[in-house]
Amino acid sequence: MAINTLKIREDFPILQKRIGGKPLVYFDNACMSLRPKQVLSAIQHYYEDLSACGGRSSHRLATQLTEEMERARKSVSAFFGAKRAEEIIFTKNTTEGINLVANSLALHKGDVVLTTDKEHNSNLLPWQFLAKRKGIVHEVVDSQKDNTFDIDRFERMMSKKVKLVAMVHTSNLDGTTIPAREICKIAHEHGALVLLDGAQSAPHKNVDVRKIDCDFYAFSGHKMCGPSGIGGLYGKKEMLEQLQPFLVGGETVTDTTYTTYELEEIPHRFEAGLQHYAGILGLGAAVEYLKKIGMANVEAQELLLNSAITQGVEQLQLIGPVDPKLRGGICNYLTGSIDPHALAIMLDQSASIMVRSGAHCVHSWFNKHHLKGSLRASVSFYNTVDEAKFFVEQINKIVKNLK
Ligand code: ALA
Repeated sequence: MAINTLKIREDFPILQKRIGGKPLVYFDNACMSLRPKQVLSAIQHYYEDLSACGGRSSHRLATQLTEEMERARKSVSAFFGAKRAEEIIFTKNTTEGINLVANSLALHKGDVVLTTDKEHNSNLLPWQFLAKRKGIVHEVVDSQKDNTFDIDRFERMMSKKVKLVAMVHTSNLDGTTIPAREICKIAHEHGALVLLDGAQSAPHKNVDVRKIDCDFYAFSGHKMCGPSGIGGLYGKKEMLEQLQPFLVGGETVTDTTYTTYELEEIPHRFEAGLQHYAGILGLGAAVEYLKKIGMANVEAQELLLNSAITQGVEQLQLIGPVDPKLRGGICNYLTGSIDPHALAIMLDQSASIMVRSGAHCVHSWFNKHHLKGSLRASVSFYNTVDEAKFFVEQINKIVKNLK
């Protein structure tokens, strides 16, 4: 079933505005998505109707908020196919979810953590820090020539020393998705756990954590039509129960004395302090919204857009495989002698097209390839094929004039 993009666009107030006197063409979705009015209403509802704290006070505003938060948790857990709502911990974002695992899992000197060679800094630095602090060993699985995952190399690198496989599910660099189910199977056969960085897969495809069988899955609300500053970490119940919380305080315990404490049940033992309540309700609204659109429809629309861009852009070198089916909503280009930042500014100034330029927080990959940066167009289900064609026309014109 094709989606009615024009109707969907009516849900997004910012798409009704003109930026610099021109219609906005927003192609920076891998960084931050736009928000529909359903999410904005949920945020406003919190501040206008509740404005209290959850899980503590017994008055009616607080109890209603607690109920609505737990309803949001249920929506999020159902969206990702989790077995139980308590397997979802609310965090600030993917980065916090990954840091939570890094700091709470019992990893010791000599334990190996495996990542890909295309990790966002969020799934690189936590392991580099643990290597310095605890003496864990961080090893990198190099991709194949076309930047896709090398499953054979991965299998060869697996050993009993590998305790955690922490990998980006869908890359923000080139949109490729790793074969997560196969990776989990191999990792589990070797006794290792799997943590997926789901920042770019959650907004763009059906993710079923039980089918994939990952142990942890971290995601961000701000990339999936939800508010900024809210995200989550899925963890299998039995795994979360083994973690030692590293952020502790209010709501993480049921009782304390001056020398002892009783930890709360999961997930509350991981949610220290007052929470981003408006964000939680907004995230609940966001996943309900995406569910209504249908993730298969999201994927299909993004493929149409990606195909139009891939076919149309001339003179720039695409990062990753050429086949749009393998790159989700991402078209990332090396710009040769042209500064990608200058190109991004020109697209904005001349045509109100918003793209991202630079190293996209994957500096390590650019350094490995002796490159400085790139220009990335990342699309979403509310973008139109006309916008994709307009982007192609504008970028080809600018590049031709600069060369
Ligand atoms: N914010 C990062 C990006 O734009 C993840 O790709």
